[in-house]
Amino acid sequence: MQRKSDVIVIGAGAAGMMCAIRAAQRGRSVTVLDHARAPGEKIRISGGGRCNFTNINAGPKNFLSANPHFCKSALARFTPADFIAMVDRHGIAWHEKTLGQLFCDNSAKDIIFMLLDEMRAAGAVWHLGVEISGVEKTEGGFRVSTSEGLFEAASLVIATGGKSIPKMGATGFAYRIAEQFGLAVTETRAALVPLTLDPTLLESIAPLSGISAPAEIRHGKTAFREALLFTHRGLSGPAILQISSYWREGDAITIDIEPDIDIAAHLKKAKQVNGRQSAQTALGEILPKRLAQHIVEREGVSGNMADLSDKLLTRLADAAQNWSLKPSGSEGYRTAEVTFGGIDTAALDSRSLQAKDVAGLYFIGECVDVTGWLGGYNFQWAWASGFAAGEAL
Ligand code: FDA
Repeated sequence: MQRKSDVIVIGAGAAGMMCAIRAAQRGRSVTVLDHARAPGEKIRISGGGRCNFTNINAGPKNFLSANPHFCKSALARFTPADFIAMVDRHGIAWHEKTLGQLFCDNSAKDIIFMLLDEMRAAGAVWHLGVEISGVEKTEGGFRVSTSEGLFEAASLVIATGGKSIPKMGATGFAYRIAEQFGLAVTETRAALVPLTLDPTLLESIAPLSGISAPAEIRHGKTAFREALLFTHRGLSGPAILQISSYWREGDAITIDIEPDIDIAAHLKKAKQVNGRQSAQTALGEILPKRLAQHIVEREGVSGNMADLSDKLLTRLADAAQNWSLKPSGSEGYRTAEVTFGGIDTAALDSRSLQAKDVAGLYFIGECVDVTGWLGGYNFQWAWASGFAAGEAL
């Protein structure tokens, strides 16, 4: 077993493997350590098993961070086109699903095999199932104590991801190492996560469980137009996952169902064309029937359309398109796709991802306070930040 190398990468996930590839290609001897039994486990389960490996529109605007400029340098030096070129070199078939999101045609495992092939070709070595018990600074670099003994290297890269899905081995390891070396960590919370509702509200929307509809979800000045899904726990679907990264406890969100349709105008026209139909029927022409029923009951509206004032029809439309509610919380790290916040970017050099005050120590990927939107952006950050560190160390 290789005990001394130029670089140790802790974490054989997306960022760690990309970093190992680039550093090894540049002639560094690289050892990757991971406590999991298999590399890239999150890649394997990502994108419903097909890995949404990048987004062709990825740019700094798609990322949240206390310093929105921090991600620019790494993203500019390893772009979606660079990753696509690697995927193409390996003959992996892919397609654009929607909104610039690229997925494997076959399996996310294609991406894992590609990264392992690249690591092998570049000469990086990896050890799996290794428990890390401590990290210390030495004169020449770093010493890592593990269940397999000591490993030493001049540079140490922390690529252990965030806290989401603890069942899959996610730990707060990166934050502990940051604290050990005096780097600040910003507040972390579950992001890209379904939102929950208080029991009364949940009971009232329980009949809607399973319904999905196009929606615009707004929080302050931020809005996402994608699908909304009602679940037996609360609200989910891509639009909700996106807004969850911006939402904080106590905040309200606004739901606009079928944002491309002027529901008030539709109802007023329906009243003229067929005054004898009910509001529920008219609303049910645009919205899923159960949702139409829920809205009409919630607003206490009954009778024929002909008997309903235009003001009342506007109120009904508003109940669907200007629906303000306060989620009670989120499903938390158990189901969150990512962790918001992390290693304070003020402590890192944006070009290399190296700690400003600890020479040779790097943090990459999800553990850094850079959080992407849903849709391939988080992997793009993992590839780009891994590549940036791999170029620098
Ligand atoms: P990542 O979590 O991938 O890797 C960290 C590695 O460190 C793991 O191998 C882990 O075992 C290891 N590790 C952790 N603690 C350790 C310790 N104490 N000691 C040793 N090793 C340790 N993003 C996207 O862009 N497109 C998508 O389709 C999806 N889909 C998706 C689905 C689901 C269900 C989830 C949970 C997440 C996604 N994501 C996603 C997000 C994406 O998976 C995530 O942003 C990246 O995997 C982050 O890459 P990292 O390399 O930073 O961490």
